[in-house]
Amino acid sequence: MNTNTKYLGLELKSPVIVGSSGLTADVDNMVEMEKAGAGAVVLKSVFEEQIIYDIKRNTHVVAPTDNYGDSYEYIAMHVADDSLSKHFQMIREAKNRLTIPVIGSINCFSYENWLTYAIKFQEAGCDALELNMAILPFETSLSADDVERTFSQIINTLRKSINIPISIKVGSYFTDMAKQMQQLSWMGIQGVTMFNKSVQVDIDVESETLKNASWLSSPSEIHKTLRWISILSKKMRCDLSASTGVYTADDVVKMLLAGATTVQVVSCLYKNGIGTLAALNDGLRAWMEKKGYESIGQFRGKLAVNPNDKTSVAMRTQFMKYFAEIV
Ligand SMILES: Cc1cc2nc3c(=O)[nH]c(=O)nc-3n(C[C@H](O)[C@H](O)[C@H](O)COP(=O)(O)O)c2cc1C
Repeated sequence: MNTNTKYLGLELKSPVIVGSSGLTADVDNMVEMEKAGAGAVVLKSVFEEQIIYDIKRNTHVVAPTDNYGDSYEYIAMHVADDSLSKHFQMIREAKNRLTIPVIGSINCFSYENWLTYAIKFQEAGCDALELNMAILPFETSLSADDVERTFSQIINTLRKSINIPISIKVGSYFTDMAKQMQQLSWMGIQGVTMFNKSVQVDIDVESETLKNASWLSSPSEIHKTLRWISILSKKMRCDLSASTGVYTADDVVKMLLAGATTVQVVSCLYKNGIGTLAALNDGLRAWMEKKGYESIGQFRGKLAVNPNDKTSVAMRTQFMKYFAEIV
């Protein structure tokens, strides 16, 4: 019996992979993850926004001014190169010390930089690239078509410019989730990661201010991802990686049964330690043994919704007495 899996065309020893986070910004951590059985690691995203912030901090200006003149461009370029070169050094070290695939991650807001960064990540030696494209469409002027155009423009450009596998990490804020995800999978990408958990908002009633809620997810947040993986996995032409709310080996099994190719964990490692990866893999193997499965392929997608099924429990939203014991 083995837990080997092919994800984004890469051979993985386990479908349990570590999602992008502060934990994957440190090579010692990643070595520990590999020892504990991680199938792959997705590196902490490089955020263009962070680089712009570094530039502003170093120049104390938000845009070129007379005070800086031509030197602004020079300083900006230098700061950006410096931020990126530290990250590329980390990628090279990770590639030297790990045998599992190292997946880079970028989040940009300018069209040009998606391309510039993607090329640099490929050159730095990443085995694949996850484009962190989770957005919150809060502008009332932004239509679903606008969002779709942004996605397709970036994906089409990157596909032509780099040859390592590409996956897209999305949030769950789509007016037409099923259609958008299926169309993404037709664009020649190798995978979609569902879902990035956006930073949550809360209110401090004492000071009457908006604030961030906990950064970490809770186990109850697994259900949205589970629903959409199950609804979409048979309709997509690429791998699906499940993210958000995975804490136990049973959660890993559920995502695989729903049709995920890999299952990403982050909050669970922050809360319970990197060693939890070993428990997730042991639990997956124990379940497979109990069920008599020799390989992941024998059960992956077993509970994915059939494309013509319109009545699956995964599609039910309303409570009705007929379906539930409660009124
Ligand atoms: C502290 C922290 C940092 C994160 N940083 C990133 C990041 O840089 N890029 C990214 O795509 N996702 C990032 N995420 C999101 C995670 O990759 C993941 O999608 C999310 O936490 C849901 O999975 P979980 O329930 O296993 O935590 C971060 C999450 C946490 C908690």
